[in-house]
Amino acid sequence: MIITRSAHTVSSPLKFGRLIFPSVLSGLIVGGALAFLITINASANDDGARLTDLQWLDPRSDRVKFLTEIQTEPTSYDPSKDWSLDIELGRIAFRSPTLLGGLAARRGLSCQTCHTNGRSNQQFFVAGLSSSPGTVDTTTALFSRVLGDGEFNPIKIPSLQDITETAPYGHDSREPSLAQFTHTVIESEFAGEKPCARIFGALMVYLSALRTDADIATLTQLDLSRDLTNLHRTARVLSTTLRQQDKETSLFVIAAMHNQLRRIAERFTIVQSAKPKAVLVGWSHQLKAVREAIDQAAYQEANLLFLSWQQKVEEEAVQLGEFEQVSLYAPDHLREFIAAYENR
Ligand code: HEC
Repeated sequence: MIITRSAHTVSSPLKFGRLIFPSVLSGLIVGGALAFLITINASANDDGARLTDLQWLDPRSDRVKFLTEIQTEPTSYDPSKDWSLDIELGRIAFRSPTLLGGLAARRGLSCQTCHTNGRSNQQFFVAGLSSSPGTVDTTTALFSRVLGDGEFNPIKIPSLQDITETAPYGHDSREPSLAQFTHTVIESEFAGEKPCARIFGALMVYLSALRTDADIATLTQLDLSRDLTNLHRTARVLSTTLRQQDKETSLFVIAAMHNQLRRIAERFTIVQSAKPKAVLVGWSHQLKAVREAIDQAAYQEANLLFLSWQQKVEEEAVQLGEFEQVSLYAPDHLREFIAAYENR
């Protein structure tokens, strides 16, 4: 089941060197208090309803707010006017756990988790990794055996605005090159594979678009319509890379779309009706068919399958919308869900 269940299984505290896997990371097990809410993920070996971002958020902070509205991206880029493949692809990479490796990828961590919309996530807090909200130990063996230094040394998460002008990089100014610093983040800190030149280059372009002088500091609702818009933006990139028969990038983008679908599905896990899940499973299956065609370099077929995916999403999105008010997009339900998560 691709969408609602995360790829990893949750196990009891894992030991990584000196660190005990923080219990907050061990995922949400469906407990008695919550079980009545769960109609979708009720199978015995399922780890149940979860909101990926909840595991990184300081319980003392206003998590409902964090999960329902967000500071806009500080860029002057308007995708409806001057669409840029590089910015869009870089933006996708920035939000893709699959850019990273190991535990980070399995837990759904991405650049966006810490540098939320290019800013600094002041609510990031993981017991064992953070000393105060907005800090994290990036040299922990939990994420990477390469950089794990065996010390508890959390650092404030910086904003990435104007990053191209603020060399050298790192709290100790250790790295003159932004590209090299970013390679180290991906490949050493978070155990990712070296990204292909196209994806990495696009990430650099996206980073350079994050500017303080383009910062209008307003809030955007994190609602279904926003998530669907993001999905459409990602799909537009896929239609281009498919046309170019760029297999590696297309597969990366499809993985990002699966991640987006999974995160939308997370918001519907509390809904009593089976409808939203059925819709999202359908989208996910169709996307998988596109991926299989790309895998076999059958680009014409992939294109056709992708066109019908787009049509399907277009037609069925309204069916999801009907359940938004009873989903975890609704602040009241989210508040209740978080309380249950706390008491699990
Ligand atoms: C777990 C949280 C976390 C994640 C995930 C993360 N970062 Fe960071 N990032 C940090 C912290 C903390 C620092 C400060 C590290 C330091 O100063 O040595 C940092 C520093 C940086 C810097 C240097 C900033 C400066 O002004 O010197 C860049 C650039 C950066 N990160 C980019 C990224 C990119 C790109 C990704 C995704 C590939 C990413 N980060 C993922 C927490 C994170």
